[in-house]
Amino acid sequence: MLLFLSVCPLIFGLAEGTLFRFDYAYHQEAEGWLKLHRIPATWKDAYLNCYYEGAVLASPENESLRAALKSTITGQQSEQSLQSCGIFTGVHATFGKGAYFSVEGIPLSRMPVTWAPGEPDNADNSEDCLLMLPNGTLADVNCSDVYPYVCYRKKQINMPVLNVCGTVDNGYTFESSIGSCYKLHTDPLNWTRAFVACAHEGGHLAIINSKLELQLIQELYNKSYSSMVAGKYQRNIAFLGFRNFENHFLWMTIHGQTLKEAGFDEWSKGQPDYSGGRQDCGALLKGGLLDDNFCYNILPFICEKLPSSLLGYEDY
Ligand SMILES: *[C@@H]1O[C@H](CO)[C@@H](O)[C@H](O)[C@H]1NC(C)=O
Ligand SMILES: *[C@@H]1O[C@H](CO)[C@@H](O)[C@H](O)[C@H]1NC(C)=O
Ligand SMILES: *[C@@H]1O[C@H](CO)[C@@H](O)[C@H](O)[C@H]1NC(C)=O
Ligand SMILES: *[C@@H]1O[C@H](CO)[C@@H](O)[C@H](O)[C@H]1NC(C)=O
Ligand SMILES: *[C@@H]1O[C@H](CO)[C@@H](O)[C@H](O)[C@H]1NC(C)=O
Repeated sequence: MLLFLSVCPLIFGLAEGTLFRFDYAYHQEAEGWLKLHRIPATWKDAYLNCYYEGAVLASPENESLRAALKSTITGQQSEQSLQSCGIFTGVHATFGKGAYFSVEGIPLSRMPVTWAPGEPDNADNSEDCLLMLPNGTLADVNCSDVYPYVCYRKKQINMPVLNVCGTVDNGYTFESSIGSCYKLHTDPLNWTRAFVACAHEGGHLAIINSKLELQLIQELYNKSYSSMVAGKYQRNIAFLGFRNFENHFLWMTIHGQTLKEAGFDEWSKGQPDYSGGRQDCGALLKGGLLDDNFCYNILPFICEKLPSSLLGYEDY
């Protein structure tokens, strides 16, 4: 009984935090969820990483968000480097020199701003992104420099609920016969970007482990595919989670197995063909089998995810 009592508050405590994602913490004052990314990234990568997590690169849009960001940087959990360097905010002038807005479109003039001494200085006319220092003051820096950053997800009245796939993203569908969730991305990316996008969604580029899984993925492909792929990009090839490691003969999954070990190694007719140079990244032909493709090609891709994000293994 005692154990039970002591466990309950923990469960309830977690519940609010996990309404969005297990790796985000709810901040009452910010009226939403925040996640500190400790690994420094360029501003653009930070922007994209937050986007693929279903959030936005956080900006000190008002006093409460500013206070929440500040406490995230200076919190007990944060390292020395963070406490001296600060974080990228979502406030930028990358659309036009000198016109600063948050990524949500709030102008800098509407935010509570205190500049660090000597800032902003637009040094060498090369600084279009804003950094928040640990004491909450701002400085402009080069967007190509790398800094830690914080992603923010506002709590909405009609907040989508976590689905069986452990995400608020209903692009994921659960396949009970396999026990995995899948999402076909019709917003095409190159293989490396696709890998990162799946990772930030809490999953990985899909790995086919059986004929049954191939069939389910092909059905998904069939269902959600027609005119959904933008522009001139190919519609009948999607990236998967395997690639060539050496001499075009060592094809392995992103989880370190050969295709045979993973359980499915059937190539489309004539593939891998190494056509036109190094086609080192794995893909799937619509209605077909495996294909080799250029890693830099920009293609649709398929992510796979464990159903319960609470398992934690796959979440980034
Ligand atoms: C502060 O800004 C955030 C982000 O726009 C918003 O969700 C929140 O409601 C705002 N808080 C106040 C007190 O205005
Ligand atoms: C904030 O930190 C910067 C950088 O360490 C420092 O130069 C500045 O004086 C501080 N400002 C305030 C108001 O504490
Ligand atoms: C700022 O970033 C640009 C783009 O990478 C780079 O060319 C430039 O040298 C950087 N400027 C400074 C002062 O570091
Ligand atoms: C995909 O759709 C085509 C017709 O549109 C159908 O012939 C084919 O059997 C479907 N494949 C799967 C795997 O559902
Ligand atoms: C994919 O695109 C990103 C961003 O444009 C680039 O940095 C990366 O090198 C590209 N990857 C490949 C394999 O071309």
